Amino acid sequence: MVAKNIAILFSGNGSNLENLYLKLHNKIFNDVKIEFKIAISSRKDAYGITRCNNLGLKCEILSSKENKENYDLKLLDILKPYSIDLVVLAGFMRILGDEVINAYKIINIHPSILPLFKGANAIVESYQSDMKVAGVSVHYVSSELDSGELIDQDTLKKIDNEDLKSFENRIHNLEYEIYPKAVLKVLLECKI
Ligand code: GRF
Repeated sequence: MVAKNIAILFSGNGSNLENLYLKLHNKIFNDVKIEFKIAISSRKDAYGITRCNNLGLKCEILSSKENKENYDLKLLDILKPYSIDLVVLAGFMRILGDEVINAYKIINIHPSILPLFKGANAIVESYQSDMKVAGVSVHYVSSELDSGELIDQDTLKKIDNEDLKSFENRIHNLEYEIYPKAVLKVLLECKI
């Protein structure tokens, strides 16, 4: 059996982090054991830090505000000891530099059908659009925001007169389905 090591980066609520950890950590798929080694938050007040503590997942804080210069080099320093096979972004609100992008395989989840509605307001823009469907995308991270090669996408039908909160919840539930599958697909080409 081999182990595949994951680092997970976040900035906020951390619900995808928790979902991924609960579904994948210390579990064996096709004779491969998945291990979440380290979480990194770019915000010191992110609720995801509390989730990490509750889960027993080691979490480092690398604050954007305090580490404007050399952020990427500091990130690489944190990751170095863990033999990381995959870096998973889960609501990480920073654009990574080429040093990091070239050093690791990195994936991200975005709450829209890319290439539509890139950026931080994807859920609201998708909700307000005339489209009859919405969705989520998992993609490799490239130097351009929300633009790397797609790994997987899924869609949901919009419901007439649905309020934003309900729509948002359905988008997040779709994320909780698709992201663990995409992580496994990237790491071992296997489905759960
Ligand atoms: C998710 O909607 C994800 O698609 C986007 O940021 C949000 C993070 O939510 N990139 P959470 O912190 O995982 O709850």
